[in-house]
Amino acid sequence: MNFPSNCIHHITVCSGRAQDDIDFFTQALGQRLIKQTILFDGRYAHYHLYYANATIDPGTVMTSFPYSRVQGRPGSGQVYATAYSVAKGSIGFWKDHLDHHNVMHAGIQERFGQKYITMEHPSGLKFEVIEDPAEKRKGWNAGDIAASEAARGFNSTTFSCREIGEEESFLVDAVGFRKTGVDGDYHRFEIGPGGPGSTILLKHEPQRAQGSWTFGAGTVHHVALNVPDDAALEQQKAYYEEIGYTDCSEIKDRNYFHSIYTRSPAGVLLECAATAVGAFAKDEAFSELGQHLLLPPWFEHRRAEIVGMLEPITVPEWHPGVTVGVRGTQSGMGPSHRDAVFLREEGQLVTKN
Ligand SMILES: [Fe+2]
Repeated sequence: MNFPSNCIHHITVCSGRAQDDIDFFTQALGQRLIKQTILFDGRYAHYHLYYANATIDPGTVMTSFPYSRVQGRPGSGQVYATAYSVAKGSIGFWKDHLDHHNVMHAGIQERFGQKYITMEHPSGLKFEVIEDPAEKRKGWNAGDIAASEAARGFNSTTFSCREIGEEESFLVDAVGFRKTGVDGDYHRFEIGPGGPGSTILLKHEPQRAQGSWTFGAGTVHHVALNVPDDAALEQQKAYYEEIGYTDCSEIKDRNYFHSIYTRSPAGVLLECAATAVGAFAKDEAFSELGQHLLLPPWFEHRRAEIVGMLEPITVPEWHPGVTVGVRGTQSGMGPSHRDAVFLREEGQLVTKN
């Protein structure tokens, strides 16, 4: 089997208040708000907010549903934490930075020989920063975080598992990961080039009660792997069904990408996503990226009703004078699948007071 994925595409979480979410990702983690839209499913409107690194690479895109209406229940069968890569030697900066922003954290620890800090989002979600000298992606220069110390994108994401065996079989046999190490309770799996953005960890927690599956604040809804195009989605869906994972969804249009979803044996929902033509720049100029609420065409006629259901927010503002280009062909991805959108940055972040 020639597996189509070689890295994470995006991760989608359910947070609590929208403003808390924006402040955490843009100020504490120094990410760029690149898109404001809404959850496409259901009767009620919820924001869908997107954050990424400087060049919006696959494996840097965090998407968030601020879902304060319903509280989730963290547990096994869910993502336990997601780690962002930072430069080697910068972990001391990050400890001070998190203290300065009053972010709860567990101090400096080490896993697979790399220093990391686990921190808590205001909704209870867990994130990490981890030193990795192999990280090559470009961080954003945000506020009091210099580009040299920025969180560049996902290093890995960790699933909490009561048992490792069937989840390991799924990652290896159905998706194409290879097992590359064990450190205590952590089992490491890598795909494609491996390393930053191409790593999933399974954390063995046999006593942990199962977490909730529905949308709910403080839980991760799913992890998406990057595939090059719709043909790869069809290939992966057919392969899931061939080997017995028959609950794979149909291909869904998520406006900026097309997706299939299947539930992994441990309980984590795994998506495969192919970026659509134009990627995140298909519906707004770079100088406006993330500044305005965007709706897909099929919801535009309900804009007033939708806005009325959403929490007012203040977002970071960008100086004008920036341009965007899209590299790649059918999917908007380059041949490596890792270069989604390239951006020439001529502006800098300012915060609206
Ligand atoms: Fe997704």
